[in-house]
Amino acid sequence: MSGSAGEQSDWKNIVRTEEMARKTLRLGVLISGDGSNLQALIDAIEQRELPGVEIALVVSNRADAYGIQRALKHRIPVIYLPWQKRSALPSTGKSMSTSEAKLTALLHLFQIDLIACAGWMRIFTPAFVSQFPRRLINLHPALLPDDGIGDTFTTSDGTVIPVFRGLHVVRQALEAGVKVTGSTLHYVTPEVDAGPVICRAEVAIEPGDTEESLHERIKQVEHKLIVKGIRISF
Ligand code: GRF
Repeated sequence: MSGSAGEQSDWKNIVRTEEMARKTLRLGVLISGDGSNLQALIDAIEQRELPGVEIALVVSNRADAYGIQRALKHRIPVIYLPWQKRSALPSTGKSMSTSEAKLTALLHLFQIDLIACAGWMRIFTPAFVSQFPRRLINLHPALLPDDGIGDTFTTSDGTVIPVFRGLHVVRQALEAGVKVTGSTLHYVTPEVDAGPVICRAEVAIEPGDTEESLHERIKQVEHKLIVKGIRISF
């Protein structure tokens, strides 16, 4: 026989709490270089700032990416996956490249729930992206509007600045002479650097900033942003 309504609701609460405690997110991190954002995630997990999150796989398209060493040091599975040149990509984007097919297989094999591009310098075909709606996110070192689309962004002080997309966006911001830039964590859609925003932070450009000094300050902000964004997407 079942107990009273109160006992049943207590029981349901216990089950729910246990379910939440058991909930885990297997994160895949894609890198091409230094991997300082990967390190920020590793540190946050070790400091218990991301309960339930595990970096289950790191993939690098470059064998010499320092991020590979960071993953190895923390005993995180890491794979070097050589990437095809763009000219070798199918022209329509309706089918995946061979490299993308291999990456897809790896992500399934390692049962990845969420894929974070953290300094990943390769563009995906629509066919690859469409497999992971709201499960593929990217860190972009410039400010994107909420829905990701459009050519202008209004900063917190009301200034309208251009949206910088594609390569060398830190340099683009400096060359455009804007006073504020930043970083955006967004969902990846087939259009490059144009998906809905998860979270974003502004960074002031200082007189005398070089591309390196500005990018370094942006990265400092990104290290917090990527942790916050994973928490939101969980
Ligand atoms: C970051 O600024 C990220 O926004 C951009 O590439 C950089 C990667 O830095 N896409 P790191 O490899 O995480 O240090």
